[in-house]
Amino acid sequence: MFTSVIIPAAGFGERMGATIGKQFLMVNDKPILVHTLERFERSTDIQEIVLATQRSSFPIIEEIRQKYSLSKLQSPVEGGQRRQDSIANALKQIDARAEIIVVHDAVRPFVHLKEISQSIETARFFGASIVAVRAKDTMKLASTDGRVERTLNRSSLWSVQTPQTFQRKILVDAYEFAEKHNIVATDDSFLVEQIGISPIIVEGSYENIKITTPDDLLLAELLFNRFIP
Ligand code: C5P
Repeated sequence: MFTSVIIPAAGFGERMGATIGKQFLMVNDKPILVHTLERFERSTDIQEIVLATQRSSFPIIEEIRQKYSLSKLQSPVEGGQRRQDSIANALKQIDARAEIIVVHDAVRPFVHLKEISQSIETARFFGASIVAVRAKDTMKLASTDGRVERTLNRSSLWSVQTPQTFQRKILVDAYEFAEKHNIVATDDSFLVEQIGISPIIVEGSYENIKITTPDDLLLAELLFNRFIP
């Protein structure tokens, strides 16, 4: 079944405090983005990689494609104001044959091939899947002024990551619905939930961090020394 992956990589990395997008920072001799792209280039479940990035980064992407022989990587798509806009733009460029669409953050290079394949397998059967890990900490619900309102039941809480994988029609319908009703989300699952679909959780690993702040960069250096894809 033809499967495409959308990689949103148009963020500015404000929380990293760097002058370039965090996806272009070097870890273990390569930009973070390249490590992520290599996971999907290597996955036999993926036929096409569609990357959304800022127009000013298009020449870098071309260089990266050649230098690292990324044969599945298509010409980049321009990113938008929010992650959601970047993905909406990428969705328009997906190959007509694609039946399954995976979405994966550019800044999560520690995704295992097994997580990609399990996520795809689950979405094929159930329509939508998300990779997540069990919450480790006790979680509290608080008011905006920081007063605890209640303690949530940890056994039913999950920290959600990517990949998030969908049958094509489900993701397209969810994005159309979100646009029509001005729904804003930080992940794709939320948009799919709005059209009445409940994604299935695929249990992932705590290694699959989103490199966001300078601390994560230090952790990433350590993780690379022991990472087995
Ligand atoms: O900002 P956040 O950490 O949620 O970003 C997750 C991913 O979404 C990153 O890979 C980032 O480059 C991407 N993104 C994007 N377009 C935006 C904002 C973020 O593609 N406007």
